[in-house]
Amino acid sequence: MTNRKLIAGNWKMNGSLAANEVLVKALLQGADSAPACDVVLCVPAPYLGQVQALVADSHLALGSQDVSAQTHGAYTGEKSATMLKDFGVRYAIVGHSERRQYHGETDETVAAKAAAALGAGITPIVCVGETLAERDAGQTEEVVKRQLAAVIHVNGHCISEIVVAYEPVWAIGTGKTASPGQAQAVHALLRTQLHHASSEHAPGIRILYGGSMNAANAAELLAQPDIDGGLIGGASLKAPDFLQIIAAAR
Ligand code: 13P
Repeated sequence: MTNRKLIAGNWKMNGSLAANEVLVKALLQGADSAPACDVVLCVPAPYLGQVQALVADSHLALGSQDVSAQTHGAYTGEKSATMLKDFGVRYAIVGHSERRQYHGETDETVAAKAAAALGAGITPIVCVGETLAERDAGQTEEVVKRQLAAVIHVNGHCISEIVVAYEPVWAIGTGKTASPGQAQAVHALLRTQLHHASSEHAPGIRILYGGSMNAANAAELLAQPDIDGGLIGGASLKAPDFLQIIAAAR
């Protein structure tokens, strides 16, 4: 089974009103109005309203880079899934390694965030991935399985609604991409784990690769049987590069 691919841009903490407008307009002009894949832009929260207006009635979907595990209340600085939904957000990244590393997010927090997104009808893009030290210690399989297991444990009943992203931490922003074979090996074991959770739904759950995916290496990565798309950081900020990645996803 081949899934329709999903190409997600993660702008991280980059952009401005002026730069966002230029970038989104270039993406709208440059892309086929009916691309062969789904495309989502995960933008910084302050720009959700701006980008919502820019992508209205287009093939580009809007995404968030995080979501609160809570529904409302005294959680200063947080944004709830229903607030994101108000801005037309369709996807939310949860458990990005930068959130795990700099904001102390645990596997349990990530699972709760995925549940909050699902509760509001937002598709969580659940990130998993090992650090270089963990890979060198031969712990890759154990780490990604533990991270995904926490999410399955809480969200097993609606597992078909999630997207998984394998992002080896050592490949993020470093220019060191996992080889297609390295990535495929981890994707295959994540697929097997999803299969144990739901043999019915596992084949249709999209597993994205992220970590220095770019215009030059996207096609080969996306050709792997269990790579159903990409989560792209740096290259998603450059319209020509992101457009080439979108064109490679078919
Ligand atoms: P880069 O594409 O910049 O390596 O970032 C990957 C990433 O973290 C996407 O979420």
